[in-house]
Amino acid sequence: MASIVDKIVLNIPDRLLRYLRKIGSVADQKSVTAYTVGGFVRDLLLSNEDQLKSNELDLDIVIENHAIDVAKKVADDFKASINVHQQFGTAKVITKENFQIDFVTARRETYQTLGALPSVVFSSIREDLYRRDFSINAVAMSILPIDFGNLLDYTDGLRDLETALIRVLHDQSYRDDPTRIFRAIRYEKRYNFQICQTDQGLIQDVIDHSYLDHISGQRIRNEFNRIFSEDLAWKTLQRMEDFVLFSAIVPCWELPQDFSRTWQDAIQAIDWSKKHLPDDHIDQDAVLWMALLNEETTDAVSHRLAFEKRLQEKLDSRNRLMIDQTKLSSSSKPSQVYHLLNSYPLEVLIFSLWHNKHSWQKEKIEDYLLRLRNVQPKVTGDDLIQRGHKPSPEMAKTLWNSFARQLDELRD
Ligand code: CTP
Repeated sequence: MASIVDKIVLNIPDRLLRYLRKIGSVADQKSVTAYTVGGFVRDLLLSNEDQLKSNELDLDIVIENHAIDVAKKVADDFKASINVHQQFGTAKVITKENFQIDFVTARRETYQTLGALPSVVFSSIREDLYRRDFSINAVAMSILPIDFGNLLDYTDGLRDLETALIRVLHDQSYRDDPTRIFRAIRYEKRYNFQICQTDQGLIQDVIDHSYLDHISGQRIRNEFNRIFSEDLAWKTLQRMEDFVLFSAIVPCWELPQDFSRTWQDAIQAIDWSKKHLPDDHIDQDAVLWMALLNEETTDAVSHRLAFEKRLQEKLDSRNRLMIDQTKLSSSSKPSQVYHLLNSYPLEVLIFSLWHNKHSWQKEKIEDYLLRLRNVQPKVTGDDLIQRGHKPSPEMAKTLWNSFARQLDELRD
């Protein structure tokens, strides 16, 4: 019977095996130990082929001492680029295939202030595994030539992978780093696991004691971005509401009543845009945010999560469009439709195309997106200037009138 070591080594895709063996032999030459840890080992043990095949897959390597030395040699040998953080004992190697390998020196972490990032002391692999979030992420696999594939499992991660449980390694874990709440829920839905009873209580306690208030908007936003890229993002978001997590972030925020439909609309809008507007850049996250926010919550959430200005403007304009589109009627002329919709970002329009109860409003928005916005004016400002006109409000009016006539004369 194949041992668990043989089984997981067989599961490693070839392109990765090459890197892992190489890193292991460099570590061996430098007389240090080397392990791969975290998501990669977890997905190997779960035989999660989708995750392992993902192009975005990255490797986390822990070296007991001097990770940077090993990383530099690996980067040299593979002619890969490298970013070194001397102070943290870490390095990121990016291979020609755009494959990311994070090297860290084994460390212990202590959390000195609430919500802040931890301070770091170099240490052993054992302590490195104990500082991690969940038992399922704290299994290490040796990559040294002598025992390649051997597992270190000090925290019963294998058992929890077997019984499908999410479990932190100590009672303070969610308090030390409340972003682990989002991570726990994300893994629960991604792998169809269960957050264990004790952890559910610990999470509730952290929420009830407002520990999330100590986390920066940027860190919370990063967690949402990671959730948005999950296949089952909507289930993850719904599960967050079981813990009343939205109002713990911003008091007035909760999932909309018809959330699963609204989310579906946003997904369909994105899919539609990929098919019908392939040359336009669509900020997909902006469309997804529209499904999570409404007029009452947009400002407060934008502020708390420190949204960048561009995203904030898109979300604000969605609230304006809700009012503006009521000015459309089934008999609105193309020029009126153009005039009304022309100032709106594409994300807002595609969301409204799908999240709209009125079929004639949808028709008008679709006509604008697919046809009207691509019409080139027959007469331009340059033409008028060449004919001796001076730029003026009257000239702008003449131009618009000519363009409006052109739009209204288009054939269906
Ligand atoms: N980690 C942690 N606490 C956090 C974030 C990360 O302990 N708040 C540790 C975990 O051991 C995790 C590793 O750092 O496995 C790498 O983190 P990350 O890249 O975020 O997660 P992955 O395990 O790669 O999982 P995913 O598939 O979600 O990317």
